[in-house]
Amino acid sequence: MTGNKIPGELADFGALTDLCTPWCIRVVATLRIADHIAAGTTTITTLAEEAGCDADFLLRVLRHLVGKGVFEEPVSGRFALNEAARNLLDPSQQLFLDLTGIGGRIASAWGSLLSAVRTGAPAYHELFGLPFWEDLQAHPEIAASFDALMGPPGHGTPDPEVLVTGDWQEVKTVVDVGGGTGALLAEILRARPEIYGTLVDLPRTVARAGSLLQAAGVGERVRMVGQSFFDPLPAGADLYLLKSILNDWPDREARLILGRCAQAAHPGGRVVILGGVSPDDRANPELLMMVLLRSKDRTLTEFRELAREAALEIQAAGRLPSGRFAVECRPM
Ligand SMILES: C[S@@+](CC[C@H](N)C(=O)[O-])C[C@H]1O[C@@H](n2cnc3c(N)ncnc32)[C@H](O)[C@@H]1O
Repeated sequence: MTGNKIPGELADFGALTDLCTPWCIRVVATLRIADHIAAGTTTITTLAEEAGCDADFLLRVLRHLVGKGVFEEPVSGRFALNEAARNLLDPSQQLFLDLTGIGGRIASAWGSLLSAVRTGAPAYHELFGLPFWEDLQAHPEIAASFDALMGPPGHGTPDPEVLVTGDWQEVKTVVDVGGGTGALLAEILRARPEIYGTLVDLPRTVARAGSLLQAAGVGERVRMVGQSFFDPLPAGADLYLLKSILNDWPDREARLILGRCAQAAHPGGRVVILGGVSPDDRANPELLMMVLLRSKDRTLTEFRELAREAALEIQAAGRLPSGRFAVECRPM
């Protein structure tokens, strides 16, 4: 069962089957047409010149979008922003929609869905030559846009309240496992000056974290460790965080990551999972994760079993002030 259901009589089958509009939106996002219009360029010839594209084809794409309620054409061949088109000025939308970055990988990956459903395995490599994480490793510019999409430019500033119990007294050291470029750790350390942090992520991602941590004024309290979370983790911390990690991996790998946290935490330490576990009646189909990585959202019941196999016991589970569902575990 999933959370959001649209009654059948409200489903717009034409809109649901239209592939043209989503691609038109991504093309104008990639060409930054909304930014050019916001800067004062409105005629189709000048827009095409500034974007480096064909004026006639761009005109047809924009007119299609005008028909769908995105952009206006107040005078023939001149375009203006409307409320919907102004979304394209948002940097997080640009990261998600830009076909030259991770947005292009995500959009095109849907083309592998049939193969994935037929075989029960991701077919991302059929399109891009390599599985997802290896593809990012081979394409540093795509990896950089993925890190930006995961970080504040894409997903905003994370909420530092990550404990279901709200009980920070025992926490002096935090390891953010797969912590990206350090946005969550930065917010936790900013909110609690007595805490020290360790950021663990792949070397290429950790290498991008320095400026964010320095700008947050917490650089002196963070140790950065470029390593795989499948290897032994920095040991002895009070709290290990896994935010948006477990839903990237199938059971075998997820169990291994949890096991690394259980081994590294001291006996009274905690492992907190943010994202990837849902209340039993709210499991998310996570189709994008399935297509990219074969991974999935787990119900609390499924997760409890996986955690036990990794020598972790659930202590508390519930909604954080941000609304995110979180699970706190302790080593058994
Ligand atoms: C979905 S992102 C989540 C990032 C961050 N926790 C957040 O919530 O914004 C997954 C993270 O796992 C990292 N990652 C992937 N494979 C890894 C591995 N084998 N070892 C360490 N980190 C890895 C990626 O670089 C990325 O930063």
